[in-house]
Amino acid sequence: MNKKIILFLAFMAVSFYAMPRTVALFAGQHTYYSGMGIECEKCHSDILAEIETSGYVYEKHRDAAGNTNYTTYLSLGGIDYSAGVITAYDGTNWTWNSTQKAWKDGSQLRNFSLDRNNNGIIDGAEICMLCHNASLAGATDHTGIVIRGCDDDRCHGNRNHIYNNPLLFGKTAPDTTAAGHNLSQANIHQPYYLETSNQSSRYAAIMAFNQTPGNIYGESISKGHWACEGCHTGTAVSVTIIPPPPYNHTDSSPVKRRYN
Ligand code: HEC
Ligand code: HEC
Ligand code: HEC
Repeated sequence: MNKKIILFLAFMAVSFYAMPRTVALFAGQHTYYSGMGIECEKCHSDILAEIETSGYVYEKHRDAAGNTNYTTYLSLGGIDYSAGVITAYDGTNWTWNSTQKAWKDGSQLRNFSLDRNNNGIIDGAEICMLCHNASLAGATDHTGIVIRGCDDDRCHGNRNHIYNNPLLFGKTAPDTTAAGHNLSQANIHQPYYLETSNQSSRYAAIMAFNQTPGNIYGESISKGHWACEGCHTGTAVSVTIIPPPPYNHTDSSPVKRRYN
């Protein structure tokens, strides 16, 4: 046999051997289910570096990712939290059981952690899962990866739902868990957010726990998260803002109001 062919075959054998079972490179597809065992930084080290240097956006989301009350709430599809009880979308009620160190409903236990290497902190690519893990988002997406926008129902909320609660973070006010919802209400920046909310992004909507998400537009999640990124990140965002119609001053007794 020709030497070149032998080398070629040897090379092929090595590359098949070295190719991770689960990886579908270039197609942009992720074939693993939970994604928990995959090191995102192997291919997306640029994004990890960007996130780690994003200051408070990184710190706050790292804290949220490390808060197992919150990640458990997400994994159960929580829609309400009060007086220590997580109510999930399916009507189940979960309370903290200090003996079993888990949230409990009847005989079911749940304590969901993103701290995959179990070192007590969210480090490396563990943070990616907060916003991209399909099963945590209650999606059955076969790639295991989803894009969860900032105004996701269970994150910062949107015009339709606020399924998050500041009490999960030991806070009452300011209610940062409702930033998207607040922006959708009478607010000086409302047009900026609603304009983007009425456009489809290129990311498929997460049918969270088989429910229709509040930040959907068409078949996709909306571009509502662009409004957040516009102010809170270095990402350049281009949107057309349609200003409200000017007041025509014919009403002699209008309701008094301020900018709010
Ligand atoms: C073997 C390489 C590889 C690994 C490991 C990997 N990705 Fe990807 N990922 C890609 C490629 C290639 C694309 C498509 C090109 C792009 O958008 O950058 C992609 C795209 C994405 C997208 C965009 C999906 C879309 O719908 O446009 C997200 C989000 C993502 N990856 C997150 C992750 C997360 C989170 C992890 C860790 C669980 C991960 N990736 C691990 C290679 C990888
Ligand atoms: C706080 C939430 C959050 C975290 C944490 C996060 N992402 Fe994302 N990611 C997003 C959002 C939102 C988008 C969509 C951005 C857009 O369209 O403007 C996105 C987009 C992406 C994309 C697609 C980019 C493209 O050009 O289509 C990739 C790839 C990705 N993320 C990978 C990662 C990786 C890897 C990590 C961990 C190092 C990570 N993300 C952490 C929220 C997050
Ligand atoms: C017009 C600009 C603007 C837009 C759009 C915007 N924000 Fe903000 N946001 C701010 C400013 C300014 C603050 C106050 C910062 C401070 O007090 O240090 C803030 C504060 C916050 C905080 C509290 C931060 C903290 O450290 O307590 C959160 C969370 C937040 N915004 C999330 C969002 C989300 C989610 C969106 C999109 C739905 C969004 N913001 C859209 C400008 C904006």
